[in-house]
Amino acid sequence: MNILVTGGAGYIGSHTCVALLEAGHSVIIADNLSNSKRENVEKIMRLVDKEVTFYEIDVTDEEAVDVIFRNYNIDGVIHFAGHKAVGESVEKPLDYYCNNIVSTIVLTKACKKYDVRRFVFSSSATVYGDNTVPFVESMNLLPTTNPYGETKAMSERILTDIAKSNPAFSVSLLRYFNPVGAHESGLIGEVPSGIPNNLMPYVTQVAKGNLKKLQVFGNDYPTVDGTGVRDYIHVMDLAEGHVAALENLTEGVHIYNLGTGKGTSVLELVNAFEEANGIEVPYEVVGRRPGDIASCYADVSKAERELGWTAKRDVISMCWDAWRFEKNNFLRLPTMLNR
Ligand code: NAD
Ligand code: UD1
Repeated sequence: MNILVTGGAGYIGSHTCVALLEAGHSVIIADNLSNSKRENVEKIMRLVDKEVTFYEIDVTDEEAVDVIFRNYNIDGVIHFAGHKAVGESVEKPLDYYCNNIVSTIVLTKACKKYDVRRFVFSSSATVYGDNTVPFVESMNLLPTTNPYGETKAMSERILTDIAKSNPAFSVSLLRYFNPVGAHESGLIGEVPSGIPNNLMPYVTQVAKGNLKKLQVFGNDYPTVDGTGVRDYIHVMDLAEGHVAALENLTEGVHIYNLGTGKGTSVLELVNAFEEANGIEVPYEVVGRRPGDIASCYADVSKAERELGWTAKRDVISMCWDAWRFEKNNFLRLPTMLNR
């Protein structure tokens, strides 16, 4: 299939392009490089030794999107492009609603115009809110605590309504849990801008000596050791989940959790990182981070049953690969910082 991958130069998009190309699909990337670099596109091609078509465009730009649909026989769209920083979304809600919602609308309009029937969307476990774990796709969604989460919930509703009005349209809403790690080659991975907000990129920066110590946000949650529990999933497992979702897409709307089904606490992750890489990660326990929930992990039985997909890589592999990429990535923060 010819797949248009929006945000394909970014973290999850680049790994998914590798998995798509390895599975024999052709890839057209549309990315405005607002949170990624053009060299990622070259690295994707180097990894699989195949060509990729790249358009540096903003996918909220209807004209620019139309050019791609006009020039290529697109079989499906995987829509990764979007802003994703939770804290920033609280400060700049309009940027988040404009970018994340308008891009979904522009792309689905183009799908309708050019009769493209397959659409895979990057959603997030954040749409479950503070539900009871494990999160199951059939649960009623609870409000999220930030505009970023709301853009995901709204995009899901928009896509569901469009699919209802057009029975030939097939939509897969993929709710990611906590993607971490990098491609096993160490060539592509996650490059957060500035000081990372998420746990694994923060841990790798501490391990590298760019940041002094990790702050553990709370140890008084009702969890195994009091620290927050999440369902970390290796980004290559996630990438392969997209290929499975695309290849098994049937008419209508389908929602899938992409996680491992296993919860890991902050301290368990830190210990796994230390064990896997033989490096100490100094930490201190501080107060809870506003908006955090105690536990978040997936019921993954639907993806296994319907897509024949399960995550294969364990937490130790996630730690190896995250660290290998960090070591290969020579970027250093300008000063020694700590929050
Ligand atoms: P990322 O920032 O690395 O990748 C997003 C890519 O989209 C970037 O390359 C950016 O330049 C591009 N982009 C943003 N707005 C654009 C626009 N208007 N037009 C064209 N390109 C645009 O992020 P990621 O971690 O790879 O996330 C991909 C998707 O998955 C996002 O939609 C994100 O919300 C969602 N998601 C991510 C996580 C996570 O933990 N990383 C979790 C759940 C959901
Ligand atoms: C965060 C976002 C969520 C988003 C997800 C993936 C918030 C409130 N939620 O989720 O919407 O979908 O990232 O991008 O930001 N932790 C520390 N110290 C740190 C960083 C994190 O102790 O420096 C803890 C957190 O409290 C949490 C766990 O580590 O218990 C994971 O945190 P993080 O990686 O930020 O992911 P989420 O909180 O799941």
